[in-house]
Amino acid sequence: MKYGMPINFGDWIARNEHLLKPPVGNQQIWADADIIVTVVGGPNQRTDFHDDPFEEYFHQFRGNAHLIVWDRGRFERVDLREGDIFLLPAHVRHSPQRPEPGSLCTVIERSRPAGEKDAFEWYCAKCATRVHRAEVQLQSIVRDLPVAYEAFYGLDDARRTCPACGTVHPGRDWQAWHATRAAAA
Ligand SMILES: [Fe+2]
Repeated sequence: MKYGMPINFGDWIARNEHLLKPPVGNQQIWADADIIVTVVGGPNQRTDFHDDPFEEYFHQFRGNAHLIVWDRGRFERVDLREGDIFLLPAHVRHSPQRPEPGSLCTVIERSRPAGEKDAFEWYCAKCATRVHRAEVQLQSIVRDLPVAYEAFYGLDDARRTCPACGTVHPGRDWQAWHATRAAAA
């Protein structure tokens, strides 16, 4: 059996802190492992919702963040306050929001075997109806996610229009999306 040496987590953070903010925003600790351990920093806000075929573990160890969870046609907010740990069940649609610069969270996921697909979804901010779903055989979080995102953000207005209420989804414009959601709540 081969194994690496323990890593001092504080030292690792100090070495990688410049990557844990925009434009990169996250770093994976061990490259070829069955569990994907990532540290995610703020600020980062978004409009996509993730459908993970497995559970996700969160440890918000610096600053505060929150998840917007879509559940049976409604949006709910799950606060991740500094020091919180949280286990998200498989397939619960979630959109992590990290408004605080310098905030840091450890996220642990399982690597995905062939055939276990992730999906990214976008919901109408006004009525919470699904507007788009893109399924992805996730092999690399770094490489595969931007492709799925661009495929939606590049659609014309007609194909980003809510089938239920006719509101046009603003694509990557998270400020517009959150403002509409807050006004509709
Ligand atoms: Fe709608």
